[in-house]
Amino acid sequence: MLVTKNMFVFMLLYCNKLMLCGIHHPLKLQVLELGALLFHIADMKCFSVAVKPDDATCGSPTWIGKGLTCVCFKRKGAYERICINLTPQQEERLKRLKDRMKVYFDASRPEHQDALRALWSATYPDRELSGLISDQWKEMGWQGRDPSTDFRGAGFLSLENLVFFAKTFSISFQHLLRKQGGKRSAWEYPFAVAGVNITFMIMQMLDLDAMKPRTFVRPVFLQILSESEWAFDLLYCVAFVVMDNQWLHRNATYMEFNDVLKSTRAQVERELLMDDVLRIEDMPSYSLLI
Ligand SMILES: *[C@@H]1O[C@H](CO)[C@@H](O)[C@H](O)[C@H]1NC(C)=O
Ligand SMILES: *[C@@H]1O[C@H](CO)[C@@H](O)[C@H](O)[C@H]1NC(C)=O
Repeated sequence: MLVTKNMFVFMLLYCNKLMLCGIHHPLKLQVLELGALLFHIADMKCFSVAVKPDDATCGSPTWIGKGLTCVCFKRKGAYERICINLTPQQEERLKRLKDRMKVYFDASRPEHQDALRALWSATYPDRELSGLISDQWKEMGWQGRDPSTDFRGAGFLSLENLVFFAKTFSISFQHLLRKQGGKRSAWEYPFAVAGVNITFMIMQMLDLDAMKPRTFVRPVFLQILSESEWAFDLLYCVAFVVMDNQWLHRNATYMEFNDVLKSTRAQVERELLMDDVLRIEDMPSYSLLI
């Protein structure tokens, strides 16, 4: 029996009464006989799977819904486990990401001012910025002279994401900034504001603050985050190029931006859930980034 990634995530979501235990890397476990468990999963009634908390092969159990993510089940009389238990290091990464999401932009903080300057110099390396509030920002696709009024719900993270994109994939970043690809609309999306919207869209998509995962995407992302500290930032870059691609594909104008963002989210979700996507770098659209 081949356990695909989607099946595994499915179990995590619906089997929330299953005992969790041990540490393992499930996404790399290929062959498992799930037997009766699979039957229950199909019925979405996983609670009847019995696990002895003190069973030696299961280590010390915790419950799905907290850190997630190991299931124990009985096979041929022995307890086995499939886990994506969050190790302390993984928990730490998740906490750091959640903390980043809560930071509002604060113009009085020197490190926030520095981030704005860093964004400018990464975007326009040969041009001097005349001030943190300046008409120059409009050129980058901010709504006014003061970018901070555009951060809103996405906060400081949206600025960090833009800086990361500009520095990590400078060719793609410049390409999108300067609207170089394809046949462009007469009413283009404003580059920087679109970036803020993308940060916000990904935050909503991952739904990290929800008590229980509501979609497959969150547990999959958590696993990817455990492999890379930069998973969120990389996902942002992928989403940005996907958005621009869809924009061009539809010959969209700014009126349709919301729709484009929705289909961007759908595509990003679809790619994240593909079986062989274990890192952001494995997403098909990652190859668009240069
Ligand atoms: C995009 O961001 C801008 C600036 O923060 C905001 O005014 C607008 O409502 C956002 N649009 C969407 C679709 O999130
Ligand atoms: C976009 O425009 C091109 C030509 O300008 C056309 O061939 C294509 O069908 C259009 N796509 C959509 C989705 O309207």
